[in-house]
Order: sequence, then structure tokens, then C-alpha cells
Amino acid sequence: MTTKTDPPAGAEAPSKEPNSRRDFLMKAGLGAGVVALVGQAGASLRSLVPNVSYDAPTTVKLGAPIDFPDGMKFLPDERLFVFREGKTFHAISAVCTHLGCTVRAEALSKVEEASVEGKPLRLTHRFQCPCHGSKYSGDGTNQTGPAPKPLAWYHLSVAVDDGQLVVDLAQEVGHDFRLTVA
Ligand code: FES
Repeated sequence: MTTKTDPPAGAEAPSKEPNSRRDFLMKAGLGAGVVALVGQAGASLRSLVPNVSYDAPTTVKLGAPIDFPDGMKFLPDERLFVFREGKTFHAISAVCTHLGCTVRAEALSKVEEASVEGKPLRLTHRFQCPCHGSKYSGDGTNQTGPAPKPLAWYHLSVAVDDGQLVVDLAQEVGHDFRLTVA
């Protein structure tokens, strides 16, 4: 049998915090924990996204115009054919429009004069893909095989600082595009 005893005289009775105060302290502690967790998660996610973009630039300097022979020059790094007719230049992609193999240029036995999109064009080559046999005419138009569309033509310009030819591999142009250098 137990008997209930009063606290000795002079001793403090156990404190009885009001419920509202205890709730407030618990909620405040919980809130601080959630804020800390969210902050940490945000910092972790942010660390996955770099401040700097490391995408490759789309413009590439190709060299001085004088370094390009009259006719065609293949640039393997850019997978690009650059054609020169005197002072005018145009550039055709060597990337097959089927599944992206590098097409090969084949010199025509006889240079052809053609009108492409209303502009004269001297055709010196045609192209064919070694992977699945697509064939393209000298201006890059797909003729046979699974290639669904023509080879891309890219924008050319002259760099203001050193006069080199510059290709923009993100800027496709029509088959009437020509760059004329001074
Ligand atoms: S990748 Fe060129 S024909 Fe298939």
C-alpha cells in the first residue's frame, strides 16, 4: 500500500509548464529542423548544377580564306566540307541525316554548272554514306537511300579580329547562301 506524501517544506513542486508554451517550443524546434533540412537539400541540389556552361561553342574558326583551295576541302574535326569558288564560300555538313555517319565526297568526272535555289552553283562532288548507302547530290540534296533530308549547310562569316573563316554549326542556312570575302 502506497501513501501519497507532500513535498518537504521549502522544496519546489515540479514545474507544470502551461501546455501552450510547451507546444510552442516543440513547434519552434520542429520548424527549425525542417528549415535546416530544406536548406541542406537545396544546397546539395545546387551543387549539382555548375555555374559555368561547358557546352562546346558552336562557332569554330577554320583558317584564313586563302588557305582554302578552289574547289573543296574536307575538315574532319568539324565534319564539314568547305567549297570555294574564287571569293565565294559555302559549307556543307558531312553528317549523314540518317544516323549520323560521316559521308564521303566523290569527285565528279566533270564539273557541273547548276542552279540551286535560283543561284548558280558549280558542282564538283557528290556525297555518299558508307553506313547504309544514302547518296546526296553536290549541293547536299538526298537522292537515294534512307537519308530523310538534305545535308545541312552552315553559316560562314569572317572573324573581325583575324580574318579567318568562321562556321556556326548551330546556324543552318539555305542552299542559296554564299559568303563573299573581300
Ligand atoms: S547513317 Fe548514312 S545512310 Fe545510314
